[in-house]
Amino acid sequence: MKKINAAITGIHAYVPEYILTNKELEKLVDTNDEWIVSRTGIKERRILKGENKGSSDLGAEAIKLLLKKTNTPVEEIDLIICATATPDMMFPSTACIISDKIGAKNICAFDIMAACSGFLYALTTASKFIESGTYKKVIVVGADKMSSIVDYTQRTTCILFGDGAGAVLLEPNSEGLGIQDTILKSDGSGREFLKLKSGGSLSPASHETIDAREHYIYQDGQPVFKAAVKNMADVSEEIMSRNNLNADDISWLVPHQANKRIIDATSRRMGVGDEKVMLNIERYGNTTSATIPLCLWEWEDRLNKGDNLILAAFGGGFTWGSIYLKWAYDSKK
Ligand code: UT7
Repeated sequence: MKKINAAITGIHAYVPEYILTNKELEKLVDTNDEWIVSRTGIKERRILKGENKGSSDLGAEAIKLLLKKTNTPVEEIDLIICATATPDMMFPSTACIISDKIGAKNICAFDIMAACSGFLYALTTASKFIESGTYKKVIVVGADKMSSIVDYTQRTTCILFGDGAGAVLLEPNSEGLGIQDTILKSDGSGREFLKLKSGGSLSPASHETIDAREHYIYQDGQPVFKAAVKNMADVSEEIMSRNNLNADDISWLVPHQANKRIIDATSRRMGVGDEKVMLNIERYGNTTSATIPLCLWEWEDRLNKGDNLILAAFGGGFTWGSIYLKWAYDSKK
């Protein structure tokens, strides 16, 4: 019997219309376009405006567009996994809320929380349901309304993040295409450097936690930067070496978009030239779980069946990982 792989057979993303530029941030905090671009590569990011809108709205929109594009009836979806660091609420899961918003009934739906590595964790988990034969059509969506947890008085973090969502359809493939190998790692001792301190069971929200602005992201940038550079490069090298891939074998590196300097360090270590690196951080900033599907969506028309892709990410937890996949279709555009 032929081995069943999980293959991405469709992709769509969604970003809100509002563009928050570096110029506009200059009016909010003591920063400047030159510093932001040279230290991060970011020029602008998208922000979800309006009352009563959460990550589920971003995710549901991306999935609706994906279903339309791939002519997939919602009734055929078996499972939705949502990767998010900004769930609509602590519970119910954002995947359940998304299921309702897209009209999916009685399906398996759950969230995965691995911060900026969430999409890789969710894609890996989803692939197991396909490889085992349990499900035939699975949606993995990365959706984050980062603006809901960004403190726009803190110049060290508010310049980094944006809102967005990206969704992929995963289906069985018996031609040897799709996900070939995945590596996922974590180190909880890194939790102090990147976190949202209050609002959970350890420190429930109170007047004091709100006054201390603990409902916003806290990041100690330099230790996170150092760990990201080392671990994203290490894990990308590891997946290349255990699959006997050299730089020439790789068609595309699809890196999490947190900082252009982290991406450059990773591609340099892999020996992969800039022309093979998907990079759109300048227009979206760090959208956490959505960065990787946003890249795949924008590069879809340049991807060919059989292309070797390395996906790599690093994020809060710490968590990090890489996925080696063979792209399963020629562009449908
Ligand atoms: O996706 C999840 C994982 N997250 C990441 O991967 C992010 C990792 N960290 C980073 O990308 C970088 O550490 C940052 C972009 C957050 C910061 O860059 P940096 O080169 O590490 O800067 P720094 O924190 O060392 O700050 C250097 C200087 C400081 O001034 P002094 O102390 O040297 O006078 C900061 O106060 O830059 C100052 N600074 C700013 N200046 C203008 C910090 N933020 C800003 C700003 N505008 N927005």
